[in-house]
Amino acid sequence: MLTDTKARGLADLPPVQSDSLLALIALAAADPREDKIDVGVGVFRDGAGNTPILKVMKEAEQRLLDTQVTKAYLGGAGDKQYAELLRPILLGEHAADKRIAGVQTPGGCGALRLGFQLVAKANPKARVLVGTPTWPNHAPIIDGVGLAIVEYPYYDRSSGAISFAKMIEALEAAAPGDVVLLHGCCHNPTGADLNDEQWGKVTEVVVRRGLLPFVDIAYQGFGRGLDEDARGLRGLLAACDEVIAAHSCDKNFSVYRDRVGSLWLKTSSEEATRTAMAHVLQDAREMWSMPPDHGAAAVHIILEDEALRARWLVELAAMRDRINTVRQRIAAADPRLAYIARQHGMFSLLPLSKEQVLTLRQDHAIYMADSGRFNVVGMADRDIDRFVAAVVEALDS
Ligand SMILES: Cc1ncc(COP(=O)(O)O)c(C=O)c1O
Repeated sequence: MLTDTKARGLADLPPVQSDSLLALIALAAADPREDKIDVGVGVFRDGAGNTPILKVMKEAEQRLLDTQVTKAYLGGAGDKQYAELLRPILLGEHAADKRIAGVQTPGGCGALRLGFQLVAKANPKARVLVGTPTWPNHAPIIDGVGLAIVEYPYYDRSSGAISFAKMIEALEAAAPGDVVLLHGCCHNPTGADLNDEQWGKVTEVVVRRGLLPFVDIAYQGFGRGLDEDARGLRGLLAACDEVIAAHSCDKNFSVYRDRVGSLWLKTSSEEATRTAMAHVLQDAREMWSMPPDHGAAAVHIILEDEALRARWLVELAAMRDRINTVRQRIAAADPRLAYIARQHGMFSLLPLSKEQVLTLRQDHAIYMADSGRFNVVGMADRDIDRFVAAVVEALDS
């Protein structure tokens, strides 16, 4: 209830700070220069500079159009078979573990929101340890459910490497019950992923300190391969009684706007997982009632059909190959960019100041985030040399 007597209207709302990445996309779109390069946007682009619908997705969508006989409600869990088909892809050797349950969500964002809301319900005093830097939407989502954030150092820009000792020091200082947010693979924005040994150490500290790992895995298959990219998560599932994971198919099936994700929970017993999932579904009901069907239904068709699944794997490998080939090409251009070849996924941070980023925008129509984050496959093949030359010029300036 409002306590003051002055009536409040919508016009009394304070202004909202715009999302910097969305603002950058708009800025690039408004630039009339024909040779502009937009490496700010976070979508895969092929060698011609397009984000095409996968051929296998087009076929699945056609099949859906031809065979779907109703659009009646599916229920809060959405398409249960979609989650079942994803199970082995995400969980690997843990797929048969009944203490792990998954549910369809509107994209990875929906999964993150539901997962953190569940933590807030179970343990409102839990703090969430978030690496710096991280994807800019993590903090607002965690903040939105009322959980406190504690930052841990993740990446050192000057060396282009993970600040692993500092990260471990921060995890060692966390309190039992605190949540550790980890990127499953293809770290956004740095591209710097934990290696197997580092995952092992993180897992050991998480178990010993009684922390709750929350893995955000939005780019499975874009790094080294579907199984390799899930190895960190699977190690945590082997060692921990409780794990939360937010998964997205929006990138690896190239269906960004269709909002195809899932939330995964592991607790120490089947019954506790069922109860936790019932809370998740209750929260989903309050927010969006049930997830959108189309994209997940098409993913379901692809994963269920052996031939379509095999073709998806080929198209996914082609996306991964382009990412890694462009990384190699940029890294080979200058020793100061060599670290880019050691990283994974679509993103990397350039060691540029905000002023240098603005100069690239003004003088070369190259658009990237103020932080120097750029999408390595944001540019067409024909633009790579020009991009690299402009970046090297900026580094020299
Ligand atoms: C690290 C990370 N997590 C989650 C997401 C959310 O993905 P979705 O578009 O499926 O909501 C993104 C998308 O950019 C991301 O980069």
